[in-house]
Amino acid sequence: MRDAGYELAIFPGDGTGPEVIREGVKILNVLAEGGAAPWRATEYSGGGQYFLKTGREWDPEGEAAAHRADAVLLGAVGWPGATLANGDIAGRALVLGLRESLDLFANVRPCRLYPGVKHRISGEYREVWTPKNVDMVIVRENTEDLYTPIRGRLRRAGDTELAIDTRVITRKGAERVVRYAFELARARPRGAPEDGVRRVTCVDKANVMEGCRFFRETFDRVGAEYPEVERDYAYVDAFTQWLVRNPERYNVVVATNMMGDIITDLASVLQGGMGFASGGNIGAEHAMFEPVHGSAPKYAGKNQVNPFATFFAVEQLLRWLGDRHHDARLLTPADRLERAIATALREGQGRTYDQGGTVTTSGAGDLLAATLRAEPR
Ligand code: IPM
Ligand code: MN
Repeated sequence: MRDAGYELAIFPGDGTGPEVIREGVKILNVLAEGGAAPWRATEYSGGGQYFLKTGREWDPEGEAAAHRADAVLLGAVGWPGATLANGDIAGRALVLGLRESLDLFANVRPCRLYPGVKHRISGEYREVWTPKNVDMVIVRENTEDLYTPIRGRLRRAGDTELAIDTRVITRKGAERVVRYAFELARARPRGAPEDGVRRVTCVDKANVMEGCRFFRETFDRVGAEYPEVERDYAYVDAFTQWLVRNPERYNVVVATNMMGDIITDLASVLQGGMGFASGGNIGAEHAMFEPVHGSAPKYAGKNQVNPFATFFAVEQLLRWLGDRHHDARLLTPADRLERAIATALREGQGRTYDQGGTVTTSGAGDLLAATLRAEPR
């Protein structure tokens, strides 16, 4: 616990990012009511739209704050036409850049279906699954694999002849993310919904790729230190159908970066869609939290998108920081927020368009704020 409190650096970013972050900040403020909040939240500019205006991806103060802060909360980056000279998206510095420079090696993406949240197939809304089926965490390696910035083109006389992205799997990178997954499986209150077994599933393509074989060997070596946790294996192609058909089997899932990127978007469908998917980019000393849905330019300025992914990101942030500093002033609000989210979702009054409802982004934030204020502390 740190008496002086904690510094939160907040980057609303592009598109719908500012709209959902506004609601996240609203909730942080409600959690701070009636006492001195142990956090100071400061907002900074950055992203693709900022780049188009200023020629910089973020303001220098924000960059320094992100590196100094106790935790970062990011809305989303990416805006049509905002591209760096090398072809990267403008705003990359805030996502991929922070993952690299703060060494945020584990991207932790909970996938849990709350009662009252609907699932959509072919435009129809149904409650297909319940938390009895869907309650897993996908841990995605976050610093290497195909995202390693060792890439380029061979140009001859102005034409591209060849383009290469290098897939790198290191001992250190694999080991630390696998260890994170086993520690998480050990710490979680429950095992898999299907059978209560504490299980880590390694998703890879070890039947083909050397990097995946190495990742799986590392998984076995590190996993052997956790005899109370079952080791489970899935090739990524088979995993996609098992995940949808039998989600209750999964408890903690660990994957390399690119495969983890893909399977977490797929898994979000099981939790009600991307509107509920949050991620914590976790390192040894730093962490950055975000809704996973991105900037959604076509919805920007409409006060329409679902802010619940951001509420989950705020909860993840408070819990990570609270655990790290053994600080009940953060863990208690995290618990309160989790309960209020569950209540609001169960009662179903805050459904935004993606859930077949008509509630606005700010309306959903107001509803959660009221739910929080109404709950006993
Ligand atoms: C994600 C996103 C990012 C990624 C993009 C915005 C670079 O899709 O966080 O999953 O590919 O990791
Ligand atoms: Mn993604």
